[in-house]
Amino acid sequence: MNNQRKKFEISRKVAYLNCANMSPLMKKVANAGKKGIAKKFKPYNLTGDDYFNDPHTAKKLFAQLINCPDWKRIATVGSAAYGIAAAAKNVPLKKGEKILVTDEQFPSNYYVWKQLAKEKEAEIVVAAAPDTTERRGEKWNEIILNSIDSQTKVVTMGQVHWADGTLFDLVKVREKCDEVGAALIVDGTQTVGAYPFDVQQIRPDALIVPAYKWLMGPYSIGLAYYGEMFDNGQPLEYPWVTAKDADKFSMGMEYVDGFRPGSLRYDMGQMSNFILNPMLIQSLKQVNQWTTNFIQTHCSDITHEPILRLKELGMYIEDEDSRGHHIFGVKYPEGTLDQLQKALKKHRVFVSFRGKFVRVAPHVYNDTRDMNKLIRAFEEVYS
Ligand SMILES: Cc1ncc(COP(=O)(O)O)c(C=O)c1O
Repeated sequence: MNNQRKKFEISRKVAYLNCANMSPLMKKVANAGKKGIAKKFKPYNLTGDDYFNDPHTAKKLFAQLINCPDWKRIATVGSAAYGIAAAAKNVPLKKGEKILVTDEQFPSNYYVWKQLAKEKEAEIVVAAAPDTTERRGEKWNEIILNSIDSQTKVVTMGQVHWADGTLFDLVKVREKCDEVGAALIVDGTQTVGAYPFDVQQIRPDALIVPAYKWLMGPYSIGLAYYGEMFDNGQPLEYPWVTAKDADKFSMGMEYVDGFRPGSLRYDMGQMSNFILNPMLIQSLKQVNQWTTNFIQTHCSDITHEPILRLKELGMYIEDEDSRGHHIFGVKYPEGTLDQLQKALKKHRVFVSFRGKFVRVAPHVYNDTRDMNKLIRAFEEVYS
């Protein structure tokens, strides 16, 4: 499978290495959106089924991606923050108990827990990154595991760190959570779609993934898995679509008790979005077809040599077994940020600056030409 770039419209003049910020849309995903807009021109063609069929299809495709046997465990959410807030609303937590987060975690997976901790008089514990460049990822994983104790009731984190790409061993984290009776909430934003995630192996209590990064979909929609822990929980909102038998569409004026099955109670209001769902379906179909193994192999192939060169130039990059191939941080010498930014701009290389790292995030539309531009920019500053 080569020439994936043709599926996109990315200028040859730029090296777009920033999927961790915003994936480009594929042409077919954009076309699906246009068809969605066309539907709104003629709303008299909409049927009751239109409110459910596409969201259900997207859920099934997402369930396939994460190896979840029951698509009714998947809710449509508007953002990572939305899906995480629904989990936070329903985790059992008492005064004095602990919520574990990782160092410099993304704000959408921090503020909500800070607020919950305040309300419940619970404590946020931060598993700090070790201040070392030797086996950093391995040590950070140890720190996380050692920070989970009998008072920990929630562990909420990503599968990789969003800024530097450090890979977290969620299977081990799950085991530790089981030992102490803690919930595991996973922000899958920076991995799911590009890196393998098996819900049956990792057994998170919730997994939240917005569509606009590695799912290659549109902005303002995402999907979230909620496990049995949340089966009797209360959602963030109470739209008509989540009420029991809403899909039967009788639309009488009788109010009903209860919700649709599984985790469908966590669907956001207007989850039927007629533009975003068809786009999401197309993107998920393609991601499933590519497979995460293909994406990882491609990214590994095009980054292997360039990473060696970056290391030669004195940059620190996480060891290969402690990171994914689709997202990695390059730690550059202090005091050189300005020069590096200028060089990257000159070579039209698009990456993100996150903390002390330049975050590089390739995908199947990238090739060695893109990576060479990145290297040229670094060489200009550091050799
Ligand atoms: C780890 C992580 N979580 C979540 C998000 C996005 O959160 P939201 O969907 O709430 O905007 C990002 C965006 O960069 C991210 O890197």
